[in-house]
Amino acid sequence: MTVADQVVQTPITSRPPTNNRAALEYVHAGPKQLYIDGKWKTARAGENFEVFDPATGRVMVEVALAEAADIDDAVKAARKAFQAPSWARISPHQRSRYLLRIADIIERNIEELATIQAVDIGMVLAQSRQLTATMPDVFRYYAGFTTKILGNTFPSDGSALTYTLREPLGVVGAIIPWNSPAFAFAWKVAPALACGNTVVLKPAEQAPLLPLRLAELLEEAELPPGVLNIVPGFGAGAGDALAKHPDVNKINFTGSTSVGKGILAASAGNLKKVTLELGGKSPNIIFADADLDKAIPAAVMGFSAGAGQICVAGTRIFIHEAVYQDVAAAISKAAQSLKVGAPLDPTTVVGPIISRKQFDRVTDYIRVGEDEGAILRAGGKPQGGQGYFVAPTVFENVTDRMRIVREEIFGPVAALIPFKDENDAVFRANDTDFGLAASVWTRDVSKAHTVARALEAGTVWINTIFELDVIAPYGGYKQSGTGRELGPDSIEANTQLKTVVTRF
Ligand code: NAI
Ligand code: MG
Repeated sequence: MTVADQVVQTPITSRPPTNNRAALEYVHAGPKQLYIDGKWKTARAGENFEVFDPATGRVMVEVALAEAADIDDAVKAARKAFQAPSWARISPHQRSRYLLRIADIIERNIEELATIQAVDIGMVLAQSRQLTATMPDVFRYYAGFTTKILGNTFPSDGSALTYTLREPLGVVGAIIPWNSPAFAFAWKVAPALACGNTVVLKPAEQAPLLPLRLAELLEEAELPPGVLNIVPGFGAGAGDALAKHPDVNKINFTGSTSVGKGILAASAGNLKKVTLELGGKSPNIIFADADLDKAIPAAVMGFSAGAGQICVAGTRIFIHEAVYQDVAAAISKAAQSLKVGAPLDPTTVVGPIISRKQFDRVTDYIRVGEDEGAILRAGGKPQGGQGYFVAPTVFENVTDRMRIVREEIFGPVAALIPFKDENDAVFRANDTDFGLAASVWTRDVSKAHTVARALEAGTVWINTIFELDVIAPYGGYKQSGTGRELGPDSIEANTQLKTVVTRF
């Protein structure tokens, strides 16, 4: 297998693109409406916004622009649905059946959904398929939880009974980014519904199409109206209104660290619960005794998959000095060989950056790196054409203080950094404000686990990268977030405890 193959590696790449036509028709059919209270509606102010194709820079479709008044409508609908017997009084088995139905519907439409996401965010279809393929598992996992959300009983003097009820929070606001709507939708909606909450989801303005199409497809699941509402709009309008809304009980946010801090501040108004999944600058540590045939392609994938717009991207690649020259050369060579192009072209390995704004940001960082004295070993130049293409870019000769080593770039840009020994690697890997993920490559079991303990990161991978599974918690140390998603932790994060004391 070539490095390019491994970067897009997926067990289902060979699947024929069955629903591509339906997907392409969908992405161009507009204007699209807001989904509130089980109905499709234009925005109250009647405004739409434009959604761009990152591969061409052209407008694909218009979408209704939710603003504060629309958010208020959605929150009211979600509150009403939360209290209605059709949702509040159903058995946990019934709630489970809803989630299983959702999983089935997604599975049946998986190729269309993967294609919509690929086009909307510019992600290579093979990678988009990998992400959407996990969605049914997430809904099924949480479907299994509805019957296992337990309280407790407490010892008493014999004439009292004290027990806890684990109850839903109410209306959960989900604010999601553009880099992986499939993950964000499943991770936020499935556990919220499993616990009996209702949801108002605000997609990213750059990529609202997958959530909107899901709302259409999921009508077949016949959730009571208002249980799931989808309200696309901008951060400063719709996002801010949701974050501040006095009748929203929780915000579950994924996005930038700076916006995350604003969400936390906005939550103070009514003391909403908050889960934040934020940025990263994840280290990938390659020891001299690693299986380099695996470590090198994984390192390349680690910063170029999704055109580097992945929160757990391994953008600081630490390489032991004994193998530094060879590994650095191999990574640079592999990076140069990756084909950059349109997401639906089966030969593409790296797709475009999401938007003009992000493209400018990424290319600015590349200039900053050169100005700071780092040396380009691959990429560095924007690709031709109207789309927002950046070739996988590798810097050497970096110092720990450089901005390209400290700040989240969110593009296919990596820094290669030699290290002396275990302590040096750990110290420098941890020398960051972020703490989302880290990878370690070594054949030495003791070293692997010692380093895993020492790394300040919410997820540590040993001899692998990017393996996320709904069964285990995911989230950030330090400024990469607060709270956890996935695993049983999402059940805790979507419920609250009530203590009931009886005297008889
Ligand atoms: P962002 O944090 O602004 O956007 C994420 C979501 O938050 C979107 O739905 C957006 O509309 C919403 N939002 C923005 N401002 C808001 C506000 N004041 N109140 C409520 N909601 C608001 O991220 P953006 O601007 O799209 O990307 C900028 C940088 O953020 C990227 O270059 C990258 O470094 C980082 N980022 C990190 C992500 C991650 O998963 N770690 C995901 C997206 C962005
Ligand atoms: Mg923004």
